[in-house]
Order: sequence, then C-alpha cells, then structure tokens
Amino acid sequence: MKDAAPQTIYLSDYTPPAYLVGDVHLTFKLAATKTRVLSRIAFRPNPDATDHDFFLHGDDLTLISARIDGQDINPDLHSGGLRCAVPDGPFVFEAEVEISPSTNTALEGLYMSNGMYCTQCEAEGFRKITYYPDRPDVMAVFTVRIESDLPVLLSNGNPTATGKDWAEWHDPWPKPAYLFALVAGDLVAHPNTFTTRSGRQVDLNLWVRPGGDEAKCAFGMAALKASMKWDEDVYGREYDLDLFNIVAVDDFNMGAMENKGLNIFNASAVLASPQTATDADFERIEAIIAHEYFHNWTGNRITCRDWFQLCLKEGLTVFRDQQFTGDLRSAAVKRIDDTMMLRAYQFREDNGPLAHPVRPESFVEINNFYTATVYEKGAELIGLLKLLVGDQAYFDALDLYFTRHDGDAATIEDWLQVFEDTTGRDLSQFKKWYAQAGTPRLTVRDEYADGTYRLHLRQETPPTPGQPDKDPLLIPVAVGLLDQNGAEVLPTTILEMTKAEQSFTFDGLSGRPIPSVLRNFSAPVIVVHDMTDAERALLLAHDTDPFNRWDAGRTLAQDVLVRMLRQNATPDTAFLDGLAAVLRDDALDPAFRALALRLPSEDDTAQALFDAGHTPDPTAINQAHETLKLHIAQHLQDTLPRIYAAMSVTGPYTPDAGPAGQRALGNAVLGLISKLDGGKQAAQQFASADNMTQQLGALRALLQISKGDAELAAFEAQWQHDRLVMDKWFGLQVSLAAAPDAAATAEKLTRHPAFDMKNPNRFRSVFGGLKANTAGFHHASGAAYALLADWLIKLDPINPQTAARMTMSYDTWKRYDGERQTKMRAALSKIAQTPQLSRDTEEMVTRILG
Ligand code: BES
Ligand code: ZN
Repeated sequence: MKDAAPQTIYLSDYTPPAYLVGDVHLTFKLAATKTRVLSRIAFRPNPDATDHDFFLHGDDLTLISARIDGQDINPDLHSGGLRCAVPDGPFVFEAEVEISPSTNTALEGLYMSNGMYCTQCEAEGFRKITYYPDRPDVMAVFTVRIESDLPVLLSNGNPTATGKDWAEWHDPWPKPAYLFALVAGDLVAHPNTFTTRSGRQVDLNLWVRPGGDEAKCAFGMAALKASMKWDEDVYGREYDLDLFNIVAVDDFNMGAMENKGLNIFNASAVLASPQTATDADFERIEAIIAHEYFHNWTGNRITCRDWFQLCLKEGLTVFRDQQFTGDLRSAAVKRIDDTMMLRAYQFREDNGPLAHPVRPESFVEINNFYTATVYEKGAELIGLLKLLVGDQAYFDALDLYFTRHDGDAATIEDWLQVFEDTTGRDLSQFKKWYAQAGTPRLTVRDEYADGTYRLHLRQETPPTPGQPDKDPLLIPVAVGLLDQNGAEVLPTTILEMTKAEQSFTFDGLSGRPIPSVLRNFSAPVIVVHDMTDAERALLLAHDTDPFNRWDAGRTLAQDVLVRMLRQNATPDTAFLDGLAAVLRDDALDPAFRALALRLPSEDDTAQALFDAGHTPDPTAINQAHETLKLHIAQHLQDTLPRIYAAMSVTGPYTPDAGPAGQRALGNAVLGLISKLDGGKQAAQQFASADNMTQQLGALRALLQISKGDAELAAFEAQWQHDRLVMDKWFGLQVSLAAAPDAAATAEKLTRHPAFDMKNPNRFRSVFGGLKANTAGFHHASGAAYALLADWLIKLDPINPQTAARMTMSYDTWKRYDGERQTKMRAALSKIAQTPQLSRDTEEMVTRILG
C-alpha cells in the first residue's frame, strides 16, 4: 500500500518559526545499530510568530524518553515529527532517541561508511538524528559530546574537552541544523596551517582512512589554502574559527558538504594523485574545495530563510568558485567550460518537463531541487548582476550584504535589496529572472546602409510547465563589431535589452560589419542568428572575444552535423579549414584549441534537430558524429603528429593549467590519430603513461575505435585496489560501448564482484555511463531504458535521493519518435507503479511524465 499523496510545500505558505532555539546540547552514544542521541534544547517563543504550535521534525526515530523542564512528557508522535503542550515562556526540551547508522543506506542523517560514522544533514537530514525544528531559519549554538571507542571523534567548531572514549565540541557560531556534522572513525590527518590576513593561525586537517589515501591529500590541502587566501584577497572574507577539518568518505550522495568547520567530502571530490586522478579531476577537486570553503560566508554566516532560497547560497557560491578557477587558471577556458555545462544540463532541464525557476515556488522533496537551474543558472544571474552594475558596485553590494545580513537567514529579496541600495537602481525587472523558468531565445536580425548598422533584437521565452506566458527580461547583450577583414571596429559594448523587441544603432561605419553577439556569454540565452558559414568562420578566426571565437566554431560544427543528417551533406571545407587554422595556431592556448576540437555532444545535436522541428534519430546522429570525426582526422592528417609531439610535457607531472592544457590537446589529437592508425599511438601512450590523464586518454581513444580489450584488462589488474580509479573503469566501458552493446555492457558490469549498488559513485559510474552513451541509451531495442528502470526500482528503497536524481536520464523522452517515447514512458510508468516508491522518486517520475 502506498502512503497518501505526498504533500506539496509552497513558498507562499512561509511563516516564521513558532519557537526559537538558544543552546543545543547533544550527546551521541555511538553504536552501529543502536546509537543513542540525547538532546537538551533551550526554546523560547518567537515574538514574530503567527502561531504557537510546538512541532519538532523527526524521521525514523525511536523515542526513548522526553522531558520538558525536567518533567517527563508523552508527546504525540506523527510520521514526520512530534507535538506536545509547552509552557508559555522559555523552556528546556530534552529527549533520548535511538537510531541505527549501520542500516542507514540512504546516506542522509547519521550513517556508516566503511566503519566510519558520518553525517549528511542538508537539506532535511537532521530530523533523522533527533527531534528538532529542522528548518534553516532556526539557528542555534551547538555543543556536542561524542562517546565512542573509535580514535577520532569530530564535530563542528572547536574541541573543548576530551577523555578516554569521549570528546566534546563547541561551535560558537549560531547555525541551522543542516550545517551540523559529526564524524567518528579510525582516521589519519594530513595536517597543515593557514595564517589569516589578520594574523590568526588556523589548523587545517584533511582526514582519511589509513591505507593508501594519505598519499592523495596534498593537492586538496593546497587547494584549501589557495581558497582561503583568495576569499581574503577578492571578497575580503576571513575564516572565523581556529580549526578547519575536511573528511573524505567513500559513500556520499553528492560531491561535498559545507558543514561549519567540518566539511565532509565524497572521496572522489578531494583525493587525488597524479597516477590516479586526471587533470579534469584535479581541477574539479580544486573547485569543490573552494566551493565548500566559500560557503562559510555565503551559506553559513548568511544562510537561507527557507529552501526556496537555495540559489541564494548555491548560485552565489558557484559563481564565486567559477571566479576562483578563472583567476587561478584561464578565465576564457573556464567560461567556455561553464557554458558548455550550462547548455548541456541547464538548457536541457529548462527545455523539458523538469523546467522550474531559479527560485522555485513549490516542491514535494527539496532534494530534487539541487538542480542545474538552481546552481548554474543561479550563478549566471549573479554574473548578470555584476555585468549590469559593474565590478566596483558589485563588490560594494557584497560588502553591504555581508555586514547587513551576517547571522541572518536571508532571502532573494534581501540579496537584491543590497544591490538596489548600493546602486540606486530599480531591479524589479531583473528579479523576474528568479521567477520565470525557461531559456529565452534571442533572435538577431541586422541591416546596414550608408555607414549605419542596426541590430534588431527580439526575445521570447517559451512556455514551461505551469508558466504558459512569459514577460520580457532584462538581458545584457555584449556586442562587438568586426570589419570584413576581421579587424575589430567596435569593442565590446553592453546593450541592455528590456523589451520584447528592441533595435540598436551604430553609426560611422565604413562598411557592413560582422556582429559578435553575446560576447563572453553575457546572458543565459539561446542566440538565434542566421549567419553565413563564412561569417562564422571569420569570427572563429578573428574575434577578440575568446568565448565567441570558440562558439562560432561550435555553431559551425553544429550546423555541419545538422546538414549531414538532414541533407546527407558532406562536411564542408570552410569548417574544416577553420578548425585546422585554430589547431595550427601555436599562439593559442592548447586548452582553448582542445575545446575548439571538441564537437557538440550527440545530445546537443538531438536537441538542435528537435529545435528545428525534426525528430532526432540517435543512431544516425551517432554515425554522423563518427563520420565527422573521421573527416576531421583525414583533413588534419598532416598536422596531427606534429601537434601530438609538440604537446608532450617534459618534467614531473603537475596538474597546473599549462601542462593540463597540453595534455588535453594531446589527448584530443590522439583521439583523431586513432581513427587513422588503428590505435597504434594510443596503445603506445597507454603503455608508457605515468599519469592517469594520459593513461585514461589512451584507453578512451582505444575504446572509441572498438579496441582496447587488453588495455581494459591491464587497467583492471593495475587498479583493482583503488575504488576511485575503478569507478572510471566501470564508467568508461559503458559510456563508450558500441550503441547496440551498451545495455548489455552495463548489465554485465552489475555482475562484476566489485559492483556495489550501495555505493553511489559505483552505481553512478555504471548507470551514469549508460545515460552518457546517448546512442546506447536510446538504442531502438529499448534495452537500456528497461535496464535502468529495473535498477532504479532496486535502488529506490536503498537510496531514494540517488535513484530520484537518476530518473533525469529520461527527461528528454518527448524529443524522440513514437516507439522510443512508448518505451521510455513504459520504463517511467514501471517505476511510478512500484509499491512503496520513495517521495523523491515519485515526484520526479510524475514531473517527467507530465
Ligand atoms: N550544499 C551542497 C551539498 C548538498 C547538496 C547537500 C544537496 C545536500 C543536498 C554543496 O555545497 C554543493 O553544492 N556541492 C556540490 C559541488 C559544488 C562544487 C557545486 C555537489 O555536491 O555536487
Ligand atoms: Zn554548495
């Protein structure tokens, strides 16, 4: 029997908490299946409350006893919590509950991972630890006592006392329960220190399980120190405790979590060595460490009033970690990477059944709203604001935000208000970006006569679920003009578009210019602009804006692919020559050249065809992509060996942007060479590689030409002891399997002794790999649809959060032909009809089915 329909929560129903909390004292008596949690919580009525109903959240707790002001009570227990009568004034609530960490496979609340106790409380996991007002606008000072015979016992803040088999911690900063954390285990520290700009010394530790991981800590620690320095230098934000701990855990649903003073990381998001991690892993780890550290100010010191405001902390913190990576590495390359991700994930989301505003208005399960829209589009909106007000005003507004709201649980209104107060600007139209879902389409037309050039811009946002009609948005459009020889005649100028249609005039030109529109991707919109291949090739060769230079090549490639598919055209030489010129230009950053060589994904092509009114055929798309790669390889044949050789890095491995860019271009070129030499060069690179970037790059090149069986076996033999490397081994085989074999490959790997569905990384490597294999996932047999459904049904009772997230693989079902639609709907319905389906997965399949 299913429970009653899960409840929908609305932003418009927000009311302030009935009671506020002063001090919280928690005692944990740790035991695998019978952990006791004793709580002593000081409550007082909230003068701003509209009601005085005393309700504490609680999920899956066994209540042993409860007291108010020392008197035993018998509270009413509900499925989601507890209610009882309370005195009129302040009072102390005490409870003892029992929980079972070792059977907690959902990895939310207090759970065990390889013998280690750890917690994950965001968003609503604290209620699985004890009865509490588990909402972000209730902030309190926590004192924690941990009793266990495990050697390392950690919580938030500072250690205050310790003895045999116990430790006490105190966090002086009031915080919401979602930032609570506890870790206990047999751990070793990789220690270091950081001196803040005001001269305080902070102890830093990266904690790992003994037995190999100690050798993978140095990079994460360096990234932490770089983040602390950057936030001081750029935002003027200093760390505010004497201790900062990071713990790596093997079983974790997300990448990492910003608990105050005790960040908890998925091992894959912090541990790295040259032999086991790729350049991309290093860059990602650096960014995640920075992200969680930056939350200390944007998220912890200033938190969210309610979960609808999630983008207040996540969008801003993603924006900050993007700036950080851009500063440390290449700003141009970072902008291109971020835009590729935004288009691949957020535009896809915005275009389908899961579209929702950056600040959603309702949800059933908040875990389902940690999305590309809240995160990546949320970050774009910060960038929009910065572009609109200018750098100086941006940092002034941020200073005001930090002083005005320190210690608050804030809203998007509070955020925008500091910008209005700093600049005197009315941001009411800008605010619509937070409320309106869907990606605006910006249609560009132009005309030229007698030295005068006119750009006619039209914006339109398509309807999304629940939002049929859209208003015009404030869109900053960065534009530059080039002459017919590619010389810039108008440097970047920001046009502020506020209406549905607007024209902008440029005088005094000596000839018809070529426009470079939306430079640096100045707004998260889709530009629809009929340009000739020659014009795009000119931008690819000459634009001063690196983003638009890359994007011109990207659009050319996309057009070529669409023409190959629609008109059986062969790839035209304008595109191939343009690509060759970029590749041969040694003055260009190798990382940029590697990006220019990267074709749009097969999923991008499917979307492009669908947008143009056609039904995409995943098999044909896959063939077109392979054909184009072969053409590129043949066209560049003479150049490839020279570039490959030139990209070899001498000296010891470092993951810095320079050598990483060389290896990226080297691997991209190796992929093309393999199309011509049958994998000879790749096999050689595999055999001689002394770092994971080159080992994996070679293996990928081999698998892409359906070779590499021996190398796969050698890789497994070499790395079977290393979970993180084995995740790559599992994922690569599925994502690069020939389309007809993808489902069978995934199925076979689920029977491998090292497959473990309880480990989210391992489950994701196989089934995320299946989704990433676009032609394989959408193979006409429907085998992949059915296999994934069966495994999500199996995973749901074990780990609903991860199961729910992975239902997103089906979110493009409406793009495809009737047969595929029927098969995907059948898979979704099978999931939907599963008895006892979690609220998480139920909400997702319901939304996807529409
Ligand atoms: N606060 C989140 C972690 C989180 C997400 C907890 C969802 C609970 C539910 C953390 O700050 C975060 O955003 N982590 C990202 C990585 C980051 C670099 C974008 C993640 O875990 O993927
Ligand atoms: Zn975050």
